[in-house]
Amino acid sequence: MRMYDLILKKREGRELTTAEINYFISGYNCGQIPDYQAAALLMAIFFRGLNERETAELTMAICDSGDRADLSGIPGIKVDKHSTGGVGDKTTLVLVPLVAAAGVPVAKMSGRGLGHTGGTVDKLESIPGFNVTLQPAQFIEQVRGVGAAVVAQTGNLAPADKKLYALRDVTATVESVPLIASSVMSKKIAAGADAIVLDVKVGSGAFMKDTAGAFKLARTMVEIGSQVGRRTVALITDMDQPLGRAVGNALEVKEAIDTLKGAGPPDLLELCLVLGSTMLLLAGKSASLEEGRSQLKNLLASGKALEKFEELISAQGGDPLVTSEFSRLPAAKSVQEIPAPLSGYVQSINAAEVGHSAMLLGAGREKKEAQIDLSVGLVLNKKVGDSVQAGESLATIHANNLGQLDVARETILQAYTIGQKKPEPRPLLIGTVP
Ligand code: URA
Repeated sequence: MRMYDLILKKREGRELTTAEINYFISGYNCGQIPDYQAAALLMAIFFRGLNERETAELTMAICDSGDRADLSGIPGIKVDKHSTGGVGDKTTLVLVPLVAAAGVPVAKMSGRGLGHTGGTVDKLESIPGFNVTLQPAQFIEQVRGVGAAVVAQTGNLAPADKKLYALRDVTATVESVPLIASSVMSKKIAAGADAIVLDVKVGSGAFMKDTAGAFKLARTMVEIGSQVGRRTVALITDMDQPLGRAVGNALEVKEAIDTLKGAGPPDLLELCLVLGSTMLLLAGKSASLEEGRSQLKNLLASGKALEKFEELISAQGGDPLVTSEFSRLPAAKSVQEIPAPLSGYVQSINAAEVGHSAMLLGAGREKKEAQIDLSVGLVLNKKVGDSVQAGESLATIHANNLGQLDVARETILQAYTIGQKKPEPRPLLIGTVP
């Protein structure tokens, strides 16, 4: 078999066989197929697509490029959750303790941020002492004891996806339904949960910019999940403006803690209730979404979800006092307001621009190996639909690198559109598949 022939076949829009897909993934994973040929095939797939069979086989080939986590030592139905990536998305920090407090075991493997999107593992590392690298046996033991653990995805879980994702990131081939679906589902299947809840983001801060594309991605992933016996539900949710108000690692941890205390932003709380009630239903802990939602609200109101977060932090070596003393989290040296240039209503906030601005301040990484600054970022004081007076603060910048402050300020000002008419609110939950 020759890689050249596979590239030519897909370039001409023809179907790849099972053997060809397996040849590509195993050859690329072990370094026999060079980046330039893999990149050419990815671009051909980007334009020509993959059918259902090819997408499912690509997913399983990526999944089988490494180990599979064995969660059989944890009693109960294990439910995983995955977001396709957004700006200000700190739902995992709230959902893990919330759902665990409801009695659903959560064994979560999370990623680091790349580009304008943030990663849960970076956010958790802003809690002093928090250890995201547990050994497999420790990980299972913690889920059995505490009910939850969050670790960085190990190097050998779907390793072909790591290589492919890094290549896609620099060859403009990320935004493809079969490539995103196989990337997400290969990791989820390898991570071993019995059921999967997918948060498919759509809008300016998401990979999928239009609703039709987001539904297509959702249906493709749900179909792959069901084919391998994992109950999978996808929720299509709005990412046309950042989620909540905070963007940046320690700032997002504070906002997640506020949400666990019942004082978080309404959109973040709503998304956590929507995703959490779906997780409870799949885990068999509630008979309906409404019943699950009311269980979750009670766990927030009673403080049990916050206590579970403190327990999780302590179990992973972190300082649990951060939940009552925010001064224990890293803080930036300079805090500056961005005044609104005119009065009116906020029409839109380009989420990708906000993410980019946070990255310029040091909160995110442009390249995988870059160091990030956990203390910096932004807090949006105005969201879509809010009225604003000229001179009033649109957002607060938390910065250490003063050289980047002006660029970040300009990027934020460009992200906001202010107009005279109050815009119609966009729903947070756009749809569910199936
Ligand atoms: N998230 C992933 O894990 N993979 C993609 O391709 C896109 C988002």
